[in-house]
Amino acid sequence: MNQQNLIQALPKAELHVHIEGTFEPELMFEIAQRNAVDIPYKTVDEVKQAYNFHNLQSFLDIYYAGAKALIHEKDFYDLTWAYFKKCKEDHVVHTEIFFDPQTHTVRGIAFETIFNGIFKACQDAKEKLDISSELIMCFLRHLSEEEAFEVLEQALPFKAHIIGVGLDSSELGHPPIKFELVFSKAKEEGFLIVAHAGEEGPAEYIWQALDLLHVNRIDHGVRSEEDPKLLKRLIKERMPLTVCPLSNLKLCVIEDMKEHNIKRLLDLGLCVMVNSDDPAYFGGYMNENFYAIDRALDLGEARIKQLAINSFEASFLPEQEKKKWIEKVQAM
Ligand code: ADE
Ligand code: ZN
Repeated sequence: MNQQNLIQALPKAELHVHIEGTFEPELMFEIAQRNAVDIPYKTVDEVKQAYNFHNLQSFLDIYYAGAKALIHEKDFYDLTWAYFKKCKEDHVVHTEIFFDPQTHTVRGIAFETIFNGIFKACQDAKEKLDISSELIMCFLRHLSEEEAFEVLEQALPFKAHIIGVGLDSSELGHPPIKFELVFSKAKEEGFLIVAHAGEEGPAEYIWQALDLLHVNRIDHGVRSEEDPKLLKRLIKERMPLTVCPLSNLKLCVIEDMKEHNIKRLLDLGLCVMVNSDDPAYFGGYMNENFYAIDRALDLGEARIKQLAINSFEASFLPEQEKKKWIEKVQAM
């Protein structure tokens, strides 16, 4: 089997994808039109030309503008269902989806409208596509901790179906320590914890995510490489880093995919795996991310399989399920 076929054939878990980041221009036009929402583009081509980012903030401005088309439960359902179809194409068998309620509640959309649309698509994906999923609610770090407490409160009635809480949006200037208390409360409520750290922000933010938020995984974490002591700890604890290669390239965290450190981190013994982050904006879903790093870094079969194994190891699946998928990968 050549490597492209192997990547396609392997079962994979996705652990870092923002549902609002899967909003493809075609669907954005369709939903904006039916909701009579104005978007600042006339054609799909115009939209794609606007996707020329120079850092995280320049992307987020466009990402939040696009999300304004989402109003009704059906919009959130259609968005999520479209993502599951991409998972099926890429043989992603399990996905842990981020959603950003505050992006929508600030526009007057009810929490339950957002949640119900996304969750119903998750239920249908299990039944019709045999894809399992979990939901992770993210706090927007450019907003206040008080606002994060408010959204946590709104989430409590849906707690049985939200496995974890995360932290996303503009990283620089918004360190994890800003949210120490709300994460402590979320942990008390039984949520698992993840946080974006070390994407654009320094290694110090990863230390804070570990020591103050007590995370189960770090999202991105690629700047951990700048701190040997931190690397040692991440290796020792087998703390997962949910790495997103095309995102790092599109947001100019790296200049060339050949510079990407996923292969070095993997070879050092870190639990890294491949994810798509905001695939509608960054040029591809799971398999495109694999193809891009394989082309640039020449991974070889063993590393490709290890990345798929790590995706299950780091997932929030029950141990039996993890074992089942890891054995399937090993047998390939
Ligand atoms: N929200 C959506 N994508 C993000 C990213 N890559 N970093 C931080 N927040 C995000
Ligand atoms: Zn992200």
